[in-house]
Amino acid sequence: MRRRVYLEVEDIPKYWYNVKADLPFELDPPLDPETEKPIDPEKLHAIFPRELINQEATLDKDIPIPKEVREAYAIYRPTPLVRAVGLEQALKTPAHIYYKNESVSPTGSHKLNTAIAQAYFNKFEGVINLSTETGAGQWGSALAYATKLFDMNVEVFMVKVSFKQKPFRKNMVNLFDGSIHPSPSELTERGKKFLAKDPNTTGSLGMAISEAVEVALKSKNTNYSLGSVLDHVLLHQTVIGLETKKQMEIFGEGPDVLLGCFGGGSNFGGFMLPFFPEKLKNRELEMVACEPVACPSLTNGEYRYDSGDAAGLTPLLKMYTLGRDFVPPPIHAGGLRYHGASPIISRLVHEKLVKAITIDQEEAFKAAKLFSVVEGIIPAPETSHAIAGAIRYAREASKTGEKKVIVFNFSGHGLLDLNAYAV
Ligand SMILES: Cc1ncc(COP(=O)(O)O)c(C=O)c1O
Repeated sequence: MRRRVYLEVEDIPKYWYNVKADLPFELDPPLDPETEKPIDPEKLHAIFPRELINQEATLDKDIPIPKEVREAYAIYRPTPLVRAVGLEQALKTPAHIYYKNESVSPTGSHKLNTAIAQAYFNKFEGVINLSTETGAGQWGSALAYATKLFDMNVEVFMVKVSFKQKPFRKNMVNLFDGSIHPSPSELTERGKKFLAKDPNTTGSLGMAISEAVEVALKSKNTNYSLGSVLDHVLLHQTVIGLETKKQMEIFGEGPDVLLGCFGGGSNFGGFMLPFFPEKLKNRELEMVACEPVACPSLTNGEYRYDSGDAAGLTPLLKMYTLGRDFVPPPIHAGGLRYHGASPIISRLVHEKLVKAITIDQEEAFKAAKLFSVVEGIIPAPETSHAIAGAIRYAREASKTGEKKVIVFNFSGHGLLDLNAYAV
């Protein structure tokens, strides 16, 4: 039995796939928080390079991946697609289960796919300093690695509770010569305000974004970089799904269910959006976002315009949101503690083209433990939500006897999250 498909370096996609070219509807535009009118792209240029602003708006289907970005991707891409034979056997399921292993990237997750692209486009336009937020530290360390590749600098605001839970992410950022602070911090006006309101706050991604945006607005030659949510971030992540499609063809099967964990939507979107043209032809193909019970933006949020950060500095995005002031409980899956959701995925959920489910920490942990034992890779707590979702579908297939093909995105490993596994 074939257990995994590796592709060649030449198979790294040459274009990112822009689903907006194929959507049967137009998305609601981002709004200026001051005027509540569609935002002037010139305003975004204060913190983003022009190319990323163009990518955010374009309806072109195929967006060329620059040679320099493909060369950096070749350090770890293409990533393998693996048949989870051990998991199938443990579950005694007739389903075939596959996972796309994004944990093989140098910093351990899919986040590098957009970190490299964002660092490159900023450098190309002469910006050498970036500021950013990070939840569990996967994004911050990916951007630190990417900025080091392109000889740039990065300043990272890491959500305070995760900063304490995952101390080695700080070391990793420092190793790549980035600076990193627990957020909220005394280093920014917004940080001071959040601390004045609640000195013991755990922090949230929304607060850390506010701090990073403030730094970009106030510092010279500094742009802001976001690790999820925005359309250009999902666009860069489509290398995951584009490779998966090719690999499924080599396996000789097509998916019945595609699953990914859901924080802001970047790994899930990058994984399933390239299958969207198939979904339009075959409504039976299920696309399932797995979010934590503790932060259920897609399943329990309101679909409306809201700010991407806690202080209201970012453009307003039409999305499912729990409200920008929502501070989720300090679950281990720090990367899933975001109040909002990608506008593209939000709309697909709203149109019932994508389904969202919730997984609690215990179910995620059990899934992670089983996967570690039978597949030999310890997942990130975020990724465990996708595994738990896949296991639910596999168990259902055992009941009905259906030979479902279940494919999920393994967004990252948990080797720097081992505190979460202390029992
Ligand atoms: C390993 C991993 N998976 C998933 C996520 C969630 O983010 P997104 O929904 O943007 O993929 C994160 C975020 O930090 C992460 O570190």
